[in-house]
Amino acid sequence: MNAPESRSLTAERGNGLMPTKDFYTAEYHQLEKERVFKKSWLRVGNEELLPNVGDYFVKEIESCDTSVIVVRGRDKRIRAFHNNCSHRNNRIAYVPEGNTNGFKCRFHSWAYGLDGKLIAIPDEHLFPGLSKADNGLAEVACDSWEGFIFVNVDPKPAKTLREYLGEEIYNGYSGFFTQFTRVGKLTSVVNANWKVFLDAFVESYHFSTVHAASASNVVTSREFPNGNIDAFREFGPHRTISVTSSVELHTPALSEQLVGKFSGGQTLAGDRTKKVETPPQINPKKRADWLSDILIVFPMANFQALQGFFVSQNYWPLSHDRTRWEFEIYMRAPRNAAEEVAVEYNRNYLRDVVREDLQNLNWVQSNLNARTKDHQILGEMETMVRSAYKTLAEQVGSGW
Ligand code: FES
Ligand SMILES: [Fe+2]
Repeated sequence: MNAPESRSLTAERGNGLMPTKDFYTAEYHQLEKERVFKKSWLRVGNEELLPNVGDYFVKEIESCDTSVIVVRGRDKRIRAFHNNCSHRNNRIAYVPEGNTNGFKCRFHSWAYGLDGKLIAIPDEHLFPGLSKADNGLAEVACDSWEGFIFVNVDPKPAKTLREYLGEEIYNGYSGFFTQFTRVGKLTSVVNANWKVFLDAFVESYHFSTVHAASASNVVTSREFPNGNIDAFREFGPHRTISVTSSVELHTPALSEQLVGKFSGGQTLAGDRTKKVETPPQINPKKRADWLSDILIVFPMANFQALQGFFVSQNYWPLSHDRTRWEFEIYMRAPRNAAEEVAVEYNRNYLRDVVREDLQNLNWVQSNLNARTKDHQILGEMETMVRSAYKTLAEQVGSGW
């Protein structure tokens, strides 16, 4: 299952038709929620967003029917709790993020510490025999990998985060992501199934069409006019692709040249005069013409390593045909005004590129809803799409 070496694209997963009949219905999404999302480790944020004691954020996880508070405690540990008062189930955190000494419910003022313990009940004598120690917040399993915070709402997760990721992923990215800091974030709600959204970001076949005006010539070459995926690999339910490009067709504009110069090559095309050092699982063949690696941590956390920076995405299902998208850009923290300009350039450039990706999604979804076709056709560059649906169908127990 886990081949450490690169595979040829279609040798193991095949080619051709993929059934679409079941994958996008409300009924199927209910199964996904129960059998996948409520059992998986989901990436909800970053340790760097919670540097201080009392820093917290609230994550709405509709696919798990809950809202989760992630908070750094007085012992510096990061914990997660269901955002649910033990008294009569009101929420206890009301803003997306902040810093606090504790959480107080706005219904009857029960108060909780940063460690989730119930610490105060107004007129406690009205609750004779009630044990405060037994009525803290319900904790959610929470752990980190390479600075990314994951939660698992299963009260007894079948695997630790490390076991869930597997040793090849757990150890294979050491030090790459943590050298960067978040410099930009985009979110949007789109009328498309979360898988339709994810599928649009795991192949380079669309570049010469969707990104014809913005980024196509970074990815294409004379040998591969529609892009090339050099390595496709599966690690348990997780997947990676490695995209190569000689960038021979790309002539950087003067602005891009300046940005590359002042940011140490942190542009989409990168600086090919410099070798980008990568840990074992990024650019696994250590090719000189490497452009980008995409890691999908099942079911839908996308980590994309590029030439000296990275982007991440989450596709949070809101229903069977609506998704909340989160896109984040990470670069080296700018040290001077020139690097600030480089960051700003990339923020705007990447925003424009990914907005192009969004344009087709609701058309695809409305046609899937109409069911005028009962399959899609997947080619060799879309092997990651095929792999994802097969894995999902295995876990859900139906679909393919
Ligand atoms: S519901 Fe929270 S204090 Fe009553
Ligand atoms: Fe794209």
